[in-house]
Amino acid sequence: MSDPKEAAKRLVGFAAVDRYVEPGMCVGLGTGTTAYWAIKRTGERVAAGEKLEAIVTSAATERLCGEFGVPVVPFMSRDIDVAIDGADEVAPDWALTKGGGGALFREKAIAIAARRFIVIVDDSKVVDRLGRFPTPVEVVPFTLPWVEREIAARFPHAKATERIRDGQPYRTDNGNAILDCAFGTIPDPRALAATLQAIHGVLDVGIFLDLADAVLCTADSGVRELTKA
Ligand code: A5P
Repeated sequence: MSDPKEAAKRLVGFAAVDRYVEPGMCVGLGTGTTAYWAIKRTGERVAAGEKLEAIVTSAATERLCGEFGVPVVPFMSRDIDVAIDGADEVAPDWALTKGGGGALFREKAIAIAARRFIVIVDDSKVVDRLGRFPTPVEVVPFTLPWVEREIAARFPHAKATERIRDGQPYRTDNGNAILDCAFGTIPDPRALAATLQAIHGVLDVGIFLDLADAVLCTADSGVRELTKA
């Protein structure tokens, strides 16, 4: 593969499936360009005769499962043995920013429900503190002006921008809008997430706390498991 970044994503996506997925398991499959490779690898193992099933975090991932021949079952129809997903940022305590692909709400549901949640990133996603990547906030569209006003009042230095795709307001699989909120460095992600979540109209915040059980990261040409601070 000629693109080194894509090669790194493939390496870590394949490694997560090969290390954590055992025959007969139900796998929570994430969304995004890194999770893509975990989905692909799961498909290869199904094609080789393993009985695996998936619970998906988005319509896009469901489509990929169809393409790669991975059987999909509904959320909560069986236990999720392991969930594998990418992230936009990973802090030393494994606090995550997620939702760059807009799937944060279902991703969090599956991360919470899974017995184990494995995060896969290339080393560009590892940060000292969250905040370099704008925090995605999923908002019920009717309440968007209210949520924007509340964020501006509570965080005067933040810049909250409604996500636009192809010239149209972006809508999640749940029919909601996304506000990408640039707060700058986030000293206390727990407090920030709680404040945002308390605003009426906010469905979910793309800050994932205390959910990851392991973080696999590509470094040079290998994969390493990060140690939690
Ligand atoms: C999807 O909503 C996200 O949470 C992704 O997991 C995250 O944005 C990472 O995506 P990439 O692997 O494409 O960078």
